[in-house]
Amino acid sequence: MVNNYAGGAMDLIYQTDFLLDSRKQEDLQRFAEGLNREQLLWASGFLTGIGITATTQIRAGSAEVCVTVLFGTETGNAKSLASALATRLSAVGVQAIVQDMLTYGRAKLRRDHVVLVIVSTHGDGEPPDSARVLHAALTKGQIPDLQGKRFAVLALGDASYPRFCQAGKDFDTALAAAGATRLLPRTDCDVDYEEIATHWMEQIIGALATNNATHTTMFPAPTPLAKSDHISLPATLVERVKLSGRGSSREVWHLELDTDESELHYTPGDSISLVPGNPPQIVEELLDRLELDHLASVQTRHGEIPLVEALTSRYEITRITRPFLECYAQLSEAKVLHSMLSEESANDFGEWTYGREIIDIIGQYPIKGLCAQSFIDCLRPLPARRYSIASSIMSSPGEVHLTVAAVRYSSHGRERIGVASTFLAERLAVGRSIPMRVEVNTEFRLPENLGQPLIMVAAGTGVAPFRAFLQEREALGATGRNWLIFGDRHLSTDFLYQREWLRWLKDGRLTRLDVAFSRDQEHKVYVQDRLRERAADIYAWLEEGAAFYVCGAEAMGRAIQQALIDALRSAGRTQEQAEKYILTLKQEGRYQRDVY
Ligand SMILES: Cc1cc2nc3c(=O)[nH]c(=O)nc-3n(C[C@H](O)[C@H](O)[C@H](O)COP(=O)(O)OP(=O)(O)OC[C@H]3O[C@@H](n4cnc5c(N)ncnc54)[C@H](O)[C@@H]3O)c2cc1C
Ligand SMILES: Cc1cc2nc3c(=O)[nH]c(=O)nc-3n(C[C@H](O)[C@H](O)[C@H](O)COP(=O)(O)O)c2cc1C
Repeated sequence: MVNNYAGGAMDLIYQTDFLLDSRKQEDLQRFAEGLNREQLLWASGFLTGIGITATTQIRAGSAEVCVTVLFGTETGNAKSLASALATRLSAVGVQAIVQDMLTYGRAKLRRDHVVLVIVSTHGDGEPPDSARVLHAALTKGQIPDLQGKRFAVLALGDASYPRFCQAGKDFDTALAAAGATRLLPRTDCDVDYEEIATHWMEQIIGALATNNATHTTMFPAPTPLAKSDHISLPATLVERVKLSGRGSSREVWHLELDTDESELHYTPGDSISLVPGNPPQIVEELLDRLELDHLASVQTRHGEIPLVEALTSRYEITRITRPFLECYAQLSEAKVLHSMLSEESANDFGEWTYGREIIDIIGQYPIKGLCAQSFIDCLRPLPARRYSIASSIMSSPGEVHLTVAAVRYSSHGRERIGVASTFLAERLAVGRSIPMRVEVNTEFRLPENLGQPLIMVAAGTGVAPFRAFLQEREALGATGRNWLIFGDRHLSTDFLYQREWLRWLKDGRLTRLDVAFSRDQEHKVYVQDRLRERAADIYAWLEEGAAFYVCGAEAMGRAIQQALIDALRSAGRTQEQAEKYILTLKQEGRYQRDVY
């Protein structure tokens, strides 16, 4: 099978004409063609290790090169990069400690000599929940003097958000302001972060090597191969059922995918990621507006392919990112675009792009004679979308279930559709396969103790992982009590998986069910209101050791946190004690969130 990733490796090979003779290039290319993305990433790290060992040697076990890899994550990406970096560092003899920001007090900065920060941004330019306390301390200047310390920041983000990589920028600024020296300039990553992150790691290893070179010779232990559950494997859609009832303002689907052949392994709490195809009608409209030939050939990292294929399955053609606008504005004479990119407009950028898509820019600010390649060069690769797994492998072996809300809305006079959600809701035919990979989320896990009680709070599709939790607990014969607090718009149309919850309630698997249907009465009622109403019981369950889970929209996650503080306060705690109580819950792994 020809892999889809060799294009990137080939680009690199072409750039090394002056280094490798043609036979070596061919050998390398043949080798790269047989590998998938994870194997290529591993191979690149392995070769880097050999390269570094050949040129510089890092003093093994030296206290000076003991580094702290400090990560702040919400959905697990920063954490897995942090452990990949630590593995690479130990392969070249550098002792590295991986440290979660959640349990890292700012005073430790005084102790640690080299701190490598990997942090994502969530909400609207906010740090991940686990990084909030450290972020607040650092940005308020509550930080020791860090003269003589070294650091580097890898910032994860998504360029379609106006405050791109903001948390990483904040950490970088704060550490430098406290006197620490940058090992490298901050590196910002968009959603396709693997390549840039790998390059950053190589630079880090190089920078540490430069700083600590000695004459010891050593051979690096190869970085272990990525786990097989990180490889995209085919899953075949076998069933799609609409969960939302007739008349609902929502459109939510239950999907069942057959993974028997690919033996996809997952644990409740994990999600899957997949790269959807763009809606054909948007591709057609773009081609029409651009007046470009479908079959015009364009150079991509997947080699030379027809424009229509590039727009359908390789590039993001809807969401506007700043790099897209910068690129398009450079080709255009439209003053509006240039002024939108100016520093004075930085705060308006998000508002201006909200509800707009690339098609609007092309329509409103057309560029005469724009060639296919120039347009493609402005686009970013089509990012994968994540969906929580709604099933337990123990109760549905060989299957993955998903709960997908189709995104549909209208803005600026046009009907819009979400790329991935409508792909899953309508374009992916039953019987067709799609590659997907498991995104392991060790931060959202059932307790090992089968007797521990659970409180699960969900709104809308946030209920998906809790279905997996209950299936798993049922299969394991867990004895712990389970309480679900679920919210959506209407009881009659939006009670997702109603029959299953009621069955579990009847047979005692679900101990308690509270619902909040916001639009079934005059005053809106949400899950956070239920939490406040049930404050005494919530507190009692927590005191008895319950684990507290939240899944759904990010704004709801914030509202739940506030409601929990209120619940603790009504149970007699002060604000400060309530905040401390929540922090302890998080540190004990008894407060876990999966919000998006
Ligand atoms: C860890 C994780 C788990 C997830 N689990 C699930 C899940 O179980 N089920 C699920 O359905 N989703 C889930 N999601 C969300 C999912 O990944 C996608 O983000 C969602 O389906 C939308 O993707 P899309 O490609 O359809 O929309 P896109 O094409 O990406 O469009 C979405 C964009 O449209 C814009 N937009 C949307 N509505 C409006 C509006 N009213 N007005 C103006 N602009 C608007 C926003 O800019 C938004 O970012 C999860 C996300 C994460 C990170
Ligand atoms: C709900 C949500 C909000 C996000 N908000 C931002 C943002 O404001 N700015 C940004 O640059 N990236 C944003 N991102 C993108 C994440 O930073 C990116 O997906 C990152 O790889 C996540 O890393 P993590 O898994 O370590 O948390 C957001 C992602 C999600 C799911």
